[in-house]
Amino acid sequence: MPEKFYITTPIYYVNAKPHIGHAYTTIAADVLARFQKLQGKEVFFLTGTDEHGLKIQKKAQENGKNPQQFVDEISGEFKKLWKDLNIEYSNFIRTTDPKHIAAVQKVLQTLKDNGSIYLGTYFGMYCVGCEQFKSENELVDGKCPDHNTVPEKMEEECYLLKMADIQDDLIEKIEKNEFWIAPERYRNEMLAFLKSQKLNDISISRKNVQWGIPLPFDPEQTAYVWIDALLNYLTGIGWDPVKSEADHGASGDNFSKFWPANVQLIGKDILRVHATIWPAILLHLGIELPKVLFTHGHILSDGKKMSKTLGNAIAIEEMIEKFGADGTRYLLLSAGPFGQDIDVTMERMIENYNADLANGLGNLVSRVVKLSENYEKNISNREFKIDGNIIERFSRFRFDQELKMTWLLVAEDNKYIAETKPWELVKNNQKAFNEVMDKLMRDLFVIANRLMPFMPDTSEKIKKALETKQTEILFPRIK
Ligand code: MSP
Repeated sequence: MPEKFYITTPIYYVNAKPHIGHAYTTIAADVLARFQKLQGKEVFFLTGTDEHGLKIQKKAQENGKNPQQFVDEISGEFKKLWKDLNIEYSNFIRTTDPKHIAAVQKVLQTLKDNGSIYLGTYFGMYCVGCEQFKSENELVDGKCPDHNTVPEKMEEECYLLKMADIQDDLIEKIEKNEFWIAPERYRNEMLAFLKSQKLNDISISRKNVQWGIPLPFDPEQTAYVWIDALLNYLTGIGWDPVKSEADHGASGDNFSKFWPANVQLIGKDILRVHATIWPAILLHLGIELPKVLFTHGHILSDGKKMSKTLGNAIAIEEMIEKFGADGTRYLLLSAGPFGQDIDVTMERMIENYNADLANGLGNLVSRVVKLSENYEKNISNREFKIDGNIIERFSRFRFDQELKMTWLLVAEDNKYIAETKPWELVKNNQKAFNEVMDKLMRDLFVIANRLMPFMPDTSEKIKKALETKQTEILFPRIK
Protein backbone atom coordinates (compact mmCIF):
# COMPACT_ATOMS: atom_id res chain seq x y z
CA MET A 1 0.00 0.00 0.00
CA PRO A 2 1.52 3.35 -0.98
CA GLU A 3 1.76 5.95 1.75
CA LYS A 4 -0.99 8.57 1.53
CA PHE A 5 -0.60 12.32 1.43
CA TYR A 6 -3.48 14.77 1.79
CA ILE A 7 -2.86 18.45 1.11
CA THR A 8 -5.31 21.37 1.10
CA THR A 9 -5.35 25.03 0.12
CA PRO A 10 -7.78 27.49 1.68
CA ILE A 11 -10.97 27.74 -0.33
CA TYR A 12 -11.09 31.13 -1.97
CA TYR A 13 -13.79 33.74 -1.62
CA VAL A 14 -15.67 34.36 -4.84
CA ASN A 15 -16.47 38.00 -4.15
CA ALA A 16 -13.90 38.99 -6.78
CA LYS A 17 -11.73 37.45 -9.47
CA PRO A 18 -8.76 35.29 -8.49
CA HIS A 19 -5.49 37.15 -7.93
CA ILE A 20 -1.78 36.54 -7.55
CA GLY A 21 -2.06 35.73 -3.79
CA HIS A 22 -4.50 32.90 -4.49
CA ALA A 23 -2.22 31.64 -7.25
CA TYR A 24 0.76 31.65 -4.88
CA THR A 25 -0.82 29.23 -2.37
CA THR A 26 -2.26 27.00 -5.05
CA ILE A 27 1.00 26.73 -7.00
CA ALA A 28 2.85 25.83 -3.80
CA ALA A 29 0.27 23.14 -3.02
CA ASP A 30 0.56 21.78 -6.55
CA VAL A 31 4.35 21.62 -6.30
CA LEU A 32 4.13 19.73 -3.01
CA ALA A 33 1.49 17.38 -4.37
CA ARG A 34 3.58 16.60 -7.45
CA PHE A 35 6.68 16.09 -5.32
CA GLN A 36 4.86 13.59 -3.12
CA LYS A 37 3.59 11.75 -6.18
CA LEU A 38 7.15 11.51 -7.47
CA GLN A 39 8.01 9.79 -4.23
CA GLY A 40 5.37 7.20 -4.97
CA LYS A 41 2.77 8.41 -2.50
CA GLU A 42 -0.94 8.38 -3.14
CA VAL A 43 -1.89 12.03 -3.10
CA PHE A 44 -5.16 13.86 -2.61
CA PHE A 45 -4.96 17.57 -3.35
CA LEU A 46 -8.03 19.61 -2.46
CA THR A 47 -8.82 23.17 -3.43
CA GLY A 48 -12.04 25.05 -4.13
CA THR A 49 -14.17 28.10 -3.51
CA ASP A 50 -15.86 29.60 -0.44
CA GLU A 51 -19.19 30.85 -1.72
CA HIS A 52 -21.50 31.85 1.12
CA GLY A 53 -21.69 34.79 3.51
CA LEU A 54 -22.44 38.45 3.75
CA LYS A 55 -19.49 39.66 1.69
CA ILE A 56 -20.54 37.62 -1.32
CA GLN A 57 -24.23 38.31 -0.83
CA LYS A 58 -23.45 42.05 -0.95
CA LYS A 59 -21.17 41.78 -3.98
CA ALA A 60 -23.77 39.82 -5.95
CA GLN A 61 -26.34 42.48 -5.10
CA GLU A 62 -24.01 45.28 -6.24
CA ASN A 63 -23.57 43.46 -9.53
CA GLY A 64 -27.31 43.02 -9.92
CA LYS A 65 -26.98 39.25 -10.04
CA ASN A 66 -28.56 36.51 -8.04
CA PRO A 67 -25.95 35.05 -5.71
CA GLN A 68 -25.89 31.58 -7.25
CA GLN A 69 -25.33 32.94 -10.74
CA PHE A 70 -22.64 35.28 -9.40
CA VAL A 71 -20.72 32.54 -7.55
CA ASP A 72 -21.01 30.16 -10.50
CA GLU A 73 -19.28 32.69 -12.71
CA ILE A 74 -16.44 33.52 -10.37
CA SER A 75 -15.88 29.96 -9.26
CA GLY A 76 -15.52 29.17 -12.96
CA GLU A 77 -12.77 31.78 -13.22
CA PHE A 78 -10.80 30.05 -10.48
CA LYS A 79 -11.11 26.74 -12.30
CA LYS A 80 -9.93 28.34 -15.51
CA LEU A 81 -6.94 29.93 -13.79
CA TRP A 82 -5.90 26.61 -12.25
CA LYS A 83 -6.06 25.05 -15.68
CA ASP A 84 -3.92 27.84 -17.12
CA LEU A 85 -1.38 27.33 -14.34
CA ASN A 86 -1.32 23.56 -14.82
CA ILE A 87 -2.68 22.81 -11.35
CA GLU A 88 -3.41 19.12 -10.90
CA TYR A 89 -5.96 19.04 -8.08
CA SER A 90 -7.87 15.90 -7.10
CA ASN A 91 -11.08 17.72 -6.25
CA PHE A 92 -12.41 21.26 -6.50
CA ILE A 93 -14.95 21.75 -3.74
CA ARG A 94 -17.60 24.45 -3.82
CA THR A 95 -19.48 25.25 -0.63
CA THR A 96 -22.68 25.52 -2.67
CA ASP A 97 -22.37 21.83 -3.66
CA PRO A 98 -25.51 20.07 -2.36
CA LYS A 99 -23.38 17.32 -0.81
CA HIS A 100 -21.34 19.85 1.14
CA ILE A 101 -24.49 21.63 2.30
CA ALA A 102 -26.07 18.38 3.49
CA ALA A 103 -22.91 17.42 5.38
CA VAL A 104 -22.64 20.84 7.07
CA GLN A 105 -26.24 20.54 8.23
CA LYS A 106 -25.58 17.11 9.68
CA VAL A 107 -22.51 18.40 11.53
CA LEU A 108 -24.44 21.27 13.03
CA GLN A 109 -27.11 18.86 14.21
CA THR A 110 -24.44 16.60 15.72
CA LEU A 111 -22.84 19.54 17.53
CA LYS A 112 -26.23 20.63 18.82
CA ASP A 113 -27.08 17.10 19.96
CA ASN A 114 -23.79 16.56 21.75
CA GLY A 115 -24.08 19.85 23.59
CA SER A 116 -21.16 21.63 21.89
CA ILE A 117 -23.35 24.51 20.74
CA TYR A 118 -26.06 26.45 22.53
CA LEU A 119 -28.36 29.40 21.88
CA GLY A 120 -27.07 32.71 23.20
CA THR A 121 -26.34 36.29 22.29
CA TYR A 122 -23.22 37.59 20.71
CA PHE A 123 -22.00 41.12 20.91
CA GLY A 124 -19.03 42.23 18.89
CA MET A 125 -17.42 44.18 16.09
CA TYR A 126 -17.80 42.43 12.78
CA CYS A 127 -15.48 42.99 9.81
CA VAL A 128 -17.30 41.92 6.64
CA GLY A 129 -14.01 41.82 4.69
CA CYS A 130 -12.61 39.22 7.09
CA GLU A 131 -16.04 37.71 7.79
CA GLN A 132 -14.89 37.73 11.41
CA PHE A 133 -15.56 39.33 14.74
CA LYS A 134 -12.63 41.46 15.83
CA SER A 135 -11.45 42.20 19.34
CA GLU A 136 -10.42 45.75 20.31
CA ASN A 137 -6.73 44.86 20.33
CA GLU A 138 -6.88 43.55 16.77
CA LEU A 139 -7.95 46.97 15.49
CA VAL A 140 -5.65 49.83 14.52
CA ASP A 141 -7.20 53.28 15.05
CA GLY A 142 -10.52 51.52 15.36
CA LYS A 143 -10.13 49.93 11.93
CA CYS A 144 -9.46 46.41 10.67
CA PRO A 145 -5.83 46.62 9.52
CA ASP A 146 -6.39 44.10 6.71
CA HIS A 147 -9.34 45.93 5.18
CA ASN A 148 -8.90 49.47 6.45
CA THR A 149 -12.57 49.65 7.40
CA VAL A 150 -14.40 50.26 10.66
CA PRO A 151 -16.11 46.99 11.72
CA GLU A 152 -19.85 47.03 12.33
CA LYS A 153 -21.13 46.81 15.90
CA MET A 154 -23.41 43.82 16.16
CA GLU A 155 -25.53 42.22 18.80
CA GLU A 156 -27.66 39.27 17.86
CA GLU A 157 -29.13 36.05 19.00
CA CYS A 158 -27.14 33.17 17.60
CA TYR A 159 -25.72 29.76 18.37
CA LEU A 160 -22.34 29.61 20.03
CA LEU A 161 -19.63 26.96 20.04
CA LYS A 162 -18.10 26.18 23.42
CA MET A 163 -14.41 26.90 23.46
CA ALA A 164 -13.46 26.53 27.12
CA ASP A 165 -13.63 22.75 27.26
CA ILE A 166 -11.27 22.24 24.32
CA GLN A 167 -8.72 24.95 25.14
CA ASP A 168 -6.30 22.85 27.25
CA ASP A 169 -6.49 19.94 24.88
CA LEU A 170 -5.69 22.23 21.97
CA ILE A 171 -2.71 23.82 23.72
CA GLU A 172 -1.34 20.38 24.53
CA LYS A 173 -1.69 19.18 20.94
CA ILE A 174 0.12 22.23 19.64
CA GLU A 175 2.86 21.90 22.24
CA LYS A 176 3.42 18.25 21.38
CA ASN A 177 3.38 19.09 17.66
CA GLU A 178 0.58 16.61 17.18
CA PHE A 179 -1.04 19.61 15.55
CA TRP A 180 2.08 21.20 14.16
CA ILE A 181 1.87 24.87 13.38
CA ALA A 182 4.75 26.02 11.18
CA PRO A 183 6.94 28.04 10.80
CA GLU A 184 7.99 28.17 14.44
CA ARG A 185 7.14 31.82 15.03
CA TYR A 186 3.48 31.19 14.20
CA ARG A 187 3.41 28.24 16.58
CA ASN A 188 4.80 30.51 19.29
CA GLU A 189 2.35 33.26 18.41
CA MET A 190 -0.64 30.92 18.66
CA LEU A 191 0.55 29.30 21.88
CA ALA A 192 1.03 32.72 23.45
CA PHE A 193 -2.45 33.74 22.32
CA LEU A 194 -4.12 30.55 23.57
CA LYS A 195 -2.38 30.71 26.94
CA SER A 196 -3.01 34.40 27.55
CA GLN A 197 -6.76 34.25 27.97
CA LYS A 198 -9.82 32.13 28.31
CA LEU A 199 -11.19 31.77 24.79
CA ASN A 200 -14.58 33.29 24.14
CA ASP A 201 -17.25 31.02 22.76
CA ILE A 202 -17.63 31.51 19.03
CA SER A 203 -20.74 32.53 17.18
CA ILE A 204 -21.46 29.85 14.61
CA SER A 205 -24.64 31.22 13.05
CA ARG A 206 -26.10 34.45 11.71
CA LYS A 207 -29.64 35.73 11.78
CA ASN A 208 -29.54 38.30 9.04
CA VAL A 209 -27.48 36.60 6.40
CA GLN A 210 -29.70 34.85 3.89
CA TRP A 211 -26.90 33.60 1.65
CA GLY A 212 -25.80 30.69 3.81
CA ILE A 213 -26.68 27.19 4.92
CA PRO A 214 -29.82 27.14 7.10
CA LEU A 215 -29.43 25.53 10.51
CA PRO A 216 -31.47 22.32 10.51
CA PHE A 217 -32.82 23.02 14.02
CA ASP A 218 -33.47 26.74 13.50
CA PRO A 219 -34.15 27.78 9.90
CA GLU A 220 -34.20 31.47 10.92
CA GLN A 221 -30.43 31.24 11.13
CA THR A 222 -27.72 30.37 8.64
CA ALA A 223 -24.34 28.81 9.41
CA TYR A 224 -21.52 31.27 10.01
CA VAL A 225 -19.50 31.28 6.79
CA TRP A 226 -16.24 30.16 8.44
CA ILE A 227 -17.89 27.05 9.95
CA ASP A 228 -19.33 26.24 6.56
CA ALA A 229 -15.97 26.89 4.87
CA LEU A 230 -13.68 25.00 7.26
CA LEU A 231 -15.75 21.86 6.92
CA ASN A 232 -14.75 21.72 3.23
CA TYR A 233 -11.54 20.02 4.30
CA LEU A 234 -13.66 17.06 5.38
CA THR A 235 -16.52 17.16 2.87
CA GLY A 236 -14.03 17.58 0.01
CA ILE A 237 -12.82 14.03 0.60
CA GLY A 238 -16.33 12.65 0.82
CA TRP A 239 -16.79 12.69 4.58
CA ASP A 240 -20.22 11.72 5.83
CA PRO A 241 -20.72 13.04 9.36
CA VAL A 242 -23.42 10.57 10.24
CA LYS A 243 -21.44 7.52 9.28
CA SER A 244 -18.45 9.05 10.93
CA GLU A 245 -20.12 9.06 14.32
CA ALA A 246 -19.64 5.34 14.49
CA ASP A 247 -16.42 4.76 12.60
CA HIS A 248 -15.36 8.02 10.97
CA GLY A 249 -16.47 6.89 7.55
CA ALA A 250 -17.01 3.60 5.83
CA SER A 251 -13.83 1.82 4.88
CA GLY A 252 -12.66 2.45 1.36
CA ASP A 253 -13.91 6.02 1.17
CA ASN A 254 -11.51 8.90 0.75
CA PHE A 255 -12.09 10.23 4.23
CA SER A 256 -10.93 7.12 6.05
CA LYS A 257 -8.12 6.80 3.57
CA PHE A 258 -6.79 10.36 3.60
CA TRP A 259 -7.75 12.02 6.89
CA PRO A 260 -5.92 13.53 8.79
CA ALA A 261 -4.55 16.03 6.31
CA ASN A 262 -0.77 15.89 6.08
CA VAL A 263 -0.39 19.55 5.16
CA GLN A 264 -2.82 22.43 5.21
CA LEU A 265 -1.48 25.57 3.57
CA ILE A 266 -2.83 28.94 4.66
CA GLY A 267 -1.87 32.60 4.50
CA LYS A 268 -0.95 34.40 7.71
CA ASP A 269 -4.19 36.42 7.71
CA ILE A 270 -6.24 33.28 8.33
CA LEU A 271 -3.95 31.62 10.85
CA ARG A 272 -5.97 32.40 13.94
CA VAL A 273 -9.19 30.91 12.57
CA HIS A 274 -7.32 27.80 11.47
CA ALA A 275 -5.62 27.43 14.83
CA THR A 276 -8.70 27.99 16.98
CA ILE A 277 -12.14 27.49 15.38
CA TRP A 278 -10.98 24.72 13.07
CA PRO A 279 -9.37 22.47 15.70
CA ALA A 280 -12.24 23.29 18.08
CA ILE A 281 -14.78 21.88 15.62
CA LEU A 282 -12.69 18.76 15.12
CA LEU A 283 -12.18 18.23 18.84
CA HIS A 284 -15.91 18.61 19.49
CA LEU A 285 -16.56 16.02 16.78
CA GLY A 286 -13.87 13.67 18.08
CA ILE A 287 -11.91 13.84 14.84
CA GLU A 288 -8.12 13.86 14.68
CA LEU A 289 -6.46 17.21 13.99
CA PRO A 290 -4.48 17.83 10.79
CA LYS A 291 -0.78 17.03 11.06
CA VAL A 292 0.76 20.25 9.77
CA LEU A 293 -0.68 23.72 9.39
CA PHE A 294 1.80 25.70 7.34
CA THR A 295 1.47 29.47 7.21
CA HIS A 296 2.97 31.35 4.30
CA GLY A 297 3.67 35.04 3.93
CA HIS A 298 1.99 37.55 1.70
CA ILE A 299 3.07 38.80 -1.69
CA LEU A 300 3.89 42.46 -1.53
CA SER A 301 4.64 44.74 -4.41
CA ASP A 302 7.36 47.29 -3.89
CA GLY A 303 7.14 46.80 -0.14
CA LYS A 304 3.41 47.48 -0.01
CA LYS A 305 0.30 45.40 0.03
CA MET A 306 -0.98 45.10 -3.53
CA SER A 307 -4.10 47.12 -4.13
CA LYS A 308 -6.06 48.62 -6.97
CA THR A 309 -5.97 52.05 -5.35
CA LEU A 310 -2.19 52.01 -5.04
CA GLY A 311 -1.95 50.77 -8.61
CA ASN A 312 0.75 48.26 -7.68
CA ALA A 313 -1.31 45.11 -8.20
CA ILE A 314 0.11 42.56 -10.61
CA ALA A 315 -2.50 40.68 -12.60
CA ILE A 316 -1.93 36.94 -12.61
CA GLU A 317 -3.30 36.72 -16.18
CA GLU A 318 -0.67 39.18 -17.31
CA MET A 319 2.05 37.08 -15.70
CA ILE A 320 0.86 33.94 -17.46
CA GLU A 321 0.70 35.76 -20.77
CA LYS A 322 4.25 37.10 -20.39
CA PHE A 323 6.02 34.24 -18.65
CA GLY A 324 3.85 31.20 -19.40
CA ALA A 325 2.54 28.86 -16.69
CA ASP A 326 5.96 27.45 -15.81
CA GLY A 327 7.61 30.87 -15.85
CA THR A 328 4.95 32.18 -13.47
CA ARG A 329 5.30 29.17 -11.16
CA TYR A 330 9.07 29.64 -11.12
CA LEU A 331 9.03 33.38 -10.52
CA LEU A 332 6.58 33.21 -7.63
CA LEU A 333 8.22 30.33 -5.78
CA SER A 334 11.79 31.54 -6.28
CA ALA A 335 10.99 35.04 -4.98
CA GLY A 336 11.77 34.19 -1.34
CA PRO A 337 11.16 31.75 1.53
CA PHE A 338 7.59 30.48 1.49
CA GLY A 339 7.07 31.21 5.19
CA GLN A 340 7.90 34.91 4.82
CA ASP A 341 6.48 37.86 2.93
CA ILE A 342 7.93 38.17 -0.53
CA ASP A 343 8.21 41.27 -2.61
CA VAL A 344 7.69 41.26 -6.37
CA THR A 345 7.59 43.91 -9.08
CA MET A 346 7.00 43.37 -12.77
CA GLU A 347 10.41 44.88 -13.62
CA ARG A 348 12.27 42.51 -11.34
CA MET A 349 10.29 39.53 -12.55
CA ILE A 350 11.14 40.35 -16.16
CA GLU A 351 14.81 40.64 -15.18
CA ASN A 352 14.71 37.29 -13.39
CA TYR A 353 12.86 35.67 -16.25
CA ASN A 354 15.48 36.82 -18.73
CA ALA A 355 18.42 35.94 -16.49
CA ASP A 356 17.31 32.58 -15.06
CA LEU A 357 14.95 31.22 -17.67
CA ALA A 358 15.79 32.72 -21.08
CA ASN A 359 19.56 32.97 -20.56
CA GLY A 360 20.28 30.46 -17.81
CA LEU A 361 18.13 27.41 -18.38
CA GLY A 362 16.92 28.11 -21.92
CA ASN A 363 20.41 28.73 -23.18
CA LEU A 364 21.83 25.63 -21.53
CA VAL A 365 19.15 23.40 -23.01
CA SER A 366 19.52 24.77 -26.52
CA ARG A 367 23.33 24.53 -26.47
CA VAL A 368 23.40 20.99 -25.12
CA VAL A 369 20.72 19.76 -27.49
CA LYS A 370 22.50 21.36 -30.48
CA LEU A 371 25.81 19.78 -29.41
CA SER A 372 24.15 16.41 -28.88
CA GLU A 373 23.69 16.07 -32.66
CA ASN A 374 27.35 14.99 -32.70
CA TYR A 375 27.14 12.89 -29.56
CA GLU A 376 27.15 9.27 -30.53
CA LYS A 377 25.80 7.61 -27.44
CA ASN A 378 22.24 6.57 -26.99
CA ILE A 379 20.69 8.60 -24.32
CA SER A 380 17.56 8.13 -22.32
CA ASN A 381 16.10 9.39 -19.12
CA ARG A 382 18.36 8.02 -16.44
CA GLU A 383 17.09 6.71 -13.15
CA PHE A 384 16.57 9.72 -10.94
CA LYS A 385 16.97 9.44 -7.21
CA ILE A 386 15.47 12.13 -5.02
CA ASP A 387 18.26 12.67 -2.55
CA GLY A 388 17.93 13.47 1.14
CA ASN A 389 18.83 17.12 0.71
CA ILE A 390 15.94 17.67 -1.66
CA ILE A 391 13.51 15.93 0.68
CA GLU A 392 14.81 18.02 3.55
CA ARG A 393 14.25 21.30 1.66
CA PHE A 394 10.73 20.25 0.75
CA SER A 395 9.97 19.24 4.32
CA ARG A 396 10.91 22.77 5.36
CA PHE A 397 8.83 24.22 2.48
CA ARG A 398 11.97 25.91 1.14
CA PHE A 399 11.01 25.88 -2.53
CA ASP A 400 13.22 28.90 -3.08
CA GLN A 401 16.28 27.00 -1.84
CA GLU A 402 15.57 23.96 -3.95
CA LEU A 403 15.27 26.17 -7.03
CA LYS A 404 18.44 28.03 -6.12
CA MET A 405 20.38 24.77 -5.82
CA THR A 406 19.05 23.61 -9.18
CA TRP A 407 20.10 26.87 -10.76
CA LEU A 408 23.61 26.50 -9.34
CA LEU A 409 23.86 23.39 -11.51
CA VAL A 410 22.52 25.35 -14.51
CA ALA A 411 25.18 28.02 -13.98
CA GLU A 412 27.91 25.44 -13.43
CA ASP A 413 27.07 23.71 -16.71
CA ASN A 414 26.89 26.93 -18.71
CA LYS A 415 30.35 27.76 -17.35
CA TYR A 416 31.60 24.25 -18.11
CA ILE A 417 30.54 24.63 -21.74
CA ALA A 418 32.30 27.98 -22.03
CA GLU A 419 35.47 26.49 -20.55
CA THR A 420 35.62 23.15 -22.35
CA LYS A 421 34.45 24.53 -25.73
CA PRO A 422 32.87 21.27 -26.92
CA TRP A 423 32.20 22.80 -30.38
CA GLU A 424 36.00 22.79 -30.88
CA LEU A 425 36.55 19.38 -29.29
CA VAL A 426 34.09 17.81 -31.68
CA LYS A 427 36.39 18.75 -34.57
CA ASN A 428 39.60 17.26 -33.18
CA ASN A 429 38.97 15.11 -30.11
CA GLN A 430 35.83 13.01 -30.22
CA LYS A 431 36.76 11.19 -27.00
CA ALA A 432 37.09 14.38 -24.99
CA PHE A 433 33.92 15.70 -26.62
CA ASN A 434 32.03 12.58 -25.55
CA GLU A 435 33.25 12.98 -21.98
CA VAL A 436 32.10 16.58 -21.80
CA MET A 437 28.77 15.58 -23.26
CA ASP A 438 28.38 12.70 -20.82
CA LYS A 439 28.44 15.16 -17.97
CA LEU A 440 26.18 17.69 -19.64
CA MET A 441 23.58 15.13 -20.64
CA ARG A 442 23.60 13.59 -17.19
CA ASP A 443 23.25 16.97 -15.51
CA LEU A 444 20.46 18.11 -17.78
CA PHE A 445 18.43 15.01 -16.97
CA VAL A 446 18.98 15.72 -13.29
CA ILE A 447 17.85 19.32 -13.81
CA ALA A 448 14.77 18.22 -15.77
CA ASN A 449 13.83 15.75 -13.04
CA ARG A 450 14.34 18.23 -10.26
CA LEU A 451 12.09 20.66 -12.11
CA MET A 452 9.24 18.18 -12.45
CA PRO A 453 7.19 19.45 -9.49
CA PHE A 454 7.89 23.10 -10.21
CA MET A 455 7.79 23.32 -14.00
CA PRO A 456 6.13 20.15 -15.26
CA ASP A 457 5.87 21.18 -18.92
CA THR A 458 9.41 22.47 -19.14
CA SER A 459 10.69 19.32 -17.49
CA GLU A 460 8.97 17.16 -20.13
CA LYS A 461 10.17 19.38 -22.94
CA ILE A 462 13.79 19.15 -21.82
CA LYS A 463 13.66 15.37 -21.60
CA LYS A 464 12.07 15.12 -25.00
CA ALA A 465 14.62 17.49 -26.54
CA LEU A 466 17.47 15.38 -25.15
CA GLU A 467 15.94 12.22 -26.53
CA THR A 468 15.00 13.53 -29.97
CA LYS A 469 17.95 15.96 -30.28
CA GLN A 470 15.49 18.57 -31.51
CA THR A 471 15.24 21.81 -29.67
CA GLU A 472 12.67 24.53 -29.43
CA ILE A 473 13.05 27.84 -27.66
CA LEU A 474 11.77 27.26 -24.14
CA PHE A 475 11.73 30.84 -22.89
CA PRO A 476 11.86 33.61 -25.50
CA ARG A 477 13.59 36.71 -24.17
CA ILE A 478 11.33 39.55 -23.06
CA LYS A 479 12.39 43.04 -24.08
N1 MSP B 1 -12.34 32.00 2.20
C1 MSP B 1 -11.31 32.23 3.15
C2 MSP B 1 -10.58 30.95 3.47
C3 MSP B 1 -11.42 29.82 3.93
S1 MSP B 1 -10.53 28.38 4.17
C4 MSP B 1 -11.53 27.36 4.99
C5 MSP B 1 -10.33 33.27 2.61
N2 MSP B 1 -10.34 33.46 1.30
S2 MSP B 1 -9.42 34.53 0.54
O1 MSP B 1 -9.76 34.37 -0.84
O2 MSP B 1 -9.61 35.82 1.08
O3 MSP B 1 -7.94 34.19 0.80
C6 MSP B 1 -7.46 32.91 0.57
C7 MSP B 1 -5.97 32.82 0.75
O4 MSP B 1 -5.29 33.69 -0.12
C8 MSP B 1 -5.49 33.15 2.16
O5 MSP B 1 -4.62 32.12 2.60
C9 MSP B 1 -4.72 34.42 1.99
O6 MSP B 1 -3.65 34.50 2.89
C10 MSP B 1 -4.23 34.28 0.58
N3 MSP B 1 -3.87 35.57 0.05
C11 MSP B 1 -4.66 36.64 -0.21
N4 MSP B 1 -3.89 37.68 -0.59
C12 MSP B 1 -2.58 37.34 -0.57
C13 MSP B 1 -1.38 37.92 -0.96
N5 MSP B 1 -1.28 39.16 -1.39
N6 MSP B 1 -0.26 37.15 -0.91
C14 MSP B 1 -0.29 35.83 -0.57
N7 MSP B 1 -1.41 35.25 -0.21
C15 MSP B 1 -2.53 36.01 0.02
O7 MSP B 1 -9.59 33.85 3.39
